[in-house]
Parts: sequence; structure tokens; C-alpha cells
Amino acid sequence: MIEAAGLNKTFRSDGTETHALRDVSLTIRDGEFVSIVGRSGSGKTTLLNVLSTLMSPDSGTIRFDGRETVSMSERDLNSLRKKDLAMVFQFHYLLPYLTAVENVLLPFMSAMLPVGRDRTDHAARCLARVGLKGKENRLPGQLSGGEQQRVAIARALVTSAKVLFADEPTGSLDKTTGREIMELIRGFTDDGLAVVMVTHDRDYAGVADRVISMEDGRIVA
Ligand SMILES: Nc1ncnc2c1ncn2[C@@H]1O[C@H](COP(=O)(O)OP(=O)(O)OP(=O)(O)O)[C@@H](O)[C@H]1O
Ligand SMILES: [Mg+2]
Repeated sequence: MIEAAGLNKTFRSDGTETHALRDVSLTIRDGEFVSIVGRSGSGKTTLLNVLSTLMSPDSGTIRFDGRETVSMSERDLNSLRKKDLAMVFQFHYLLPYLTAVENVLLPFMSAMLPVGRDRTDHAARCLARVGLKGKENRLPGQLSGGEQQRVAIARALVTSAKVLFADEPTGSLDKTTGREIMELIRGFTDDGLAVVMVTHDRDYAGVADRVISMEDGRIVA
């Protein structure tokens, strides 16, 4: 699914250089759940951003189903992002004035795709899958933090992506809710979805098939 080799990324600011990624290589298979752990500043978010094409590396290659993404045109990247990649962040970024189901439909709207009966029904089914049946028409402000994060997950899944990138998806939740969200994400890998998740919490990392540890821009285990 994803084959990354020799990734390097250096940030330069205020006259200092930070080597956020140093010769990072990894492979992620279809349906595999990989979690990335490491201290603050070790390069986890940078790695996730580079793998998910949000940021380009200074050097290295990334193959997504055999297609090289580092040198891909912005146009091809956009279509890859819309079709195959999904993202969930620490804070869910739901739009407060749209209902749950409207928030789930956002990926279609931002791709200028028509939102008719079929897509709306599909979005409602995604919400049901994350346990939010009956709450489709609530505004984010009328949902709990965990429920809002579930809406964000339903939104990430509505386009039938092949890989889900998540940066601390449970970061703003209590332990029990965090574990529920983890199990929920785990369940999606049964359908072949690959998951790459950054987490601070080793307990959550245990839900993954494989744990990658980062230290100072390198994969150490
Ligand atoms: N845009 C940037 N400009 C300059 N330095 C940056 C930038 N983004 C990240 N860094 C630096 O790169 C290093 C890795 O950052 P990164 O965000 O990947 O860490 P992280 O492992 O995700 O940390 P955290 O657990 O705190 O989220 C850090 O030293 C950080 O200060
Ligand atoms: Mg981070």
C-alpha cells in the first residue's frame, strides 16, 4: 500500500536547523494498523504529514499502490487525496453551523460533487457505523467531544479511502472514550483500510498491529 524510503525533512527557522526526519523508511500493507509513538518533537507529525502528501520531503520516495507521490503533479495529488486518503486530527475541525450529516458530506462538497439522496443516505450510514444513528441532524455543539470525534471519523470514511492518517485522534478525549474511538478505528481495518496513527499513549498504541517508535527524526524500533 505505502512504501516510503529514505525520507528526509529539515526545517530551517530563526537561523536553526531541525532535522525532523532522518532517512526514514517504512512499508504499510493493506488493512494494516500502524501506530507511531515517540516523544514530543521526535518527528511523528512530520512523518504523518509527509506520508499523507500534505508536506513534501526534502528527499526520499513514497509509493502509494506503486505510484510515486513525491514527484506527482498537484492535480494528480489532489485526486489521490480525494479518492484514497482520509485524515483525522486531534481536534476534529467540524464546521459548527453544519449538522453532523452535513459535516460528513463535506468531502463531496469540497470536491464540487453533487450531494443527492444517495450520498446523504451513505453519509447517514457512516454515522450509524460510528454509533451516531438518530443524531444526524445535531449541530457539533449539541454533541459530546467523543461524538464530535466520531463525526470526524465518519467524515474521513465517507469517501471510501484506502488509508486513514490520524494525528492524536484521541488527544482531546478521556481515556475510556479514547479507547472506544480506537476500537472503532480498529474495526475499519477489517474492511482493508490501512491506518497510520500518531499517539502519545502507549496504551492506545497496543491496539495497532505494529508500533513504530521515533526518536530525533529516526525510526528506532
Ligand atoms: N514548520 C516548522 N518549522 C520549523 N520547525 C518545525 C516545523 N514543524 C516542526 N518543526 C520541528 O520539527 C521537529 C519535529 O516536529 P513534529 O511536529 O514532527 O514532532 P512530533 O513528534 O509530532 O511532536 P508532538 O508529539 O509534540 O506533536 C520539532 O523539533 C519541531 O520543532
Ligand atoms: Mg505532533
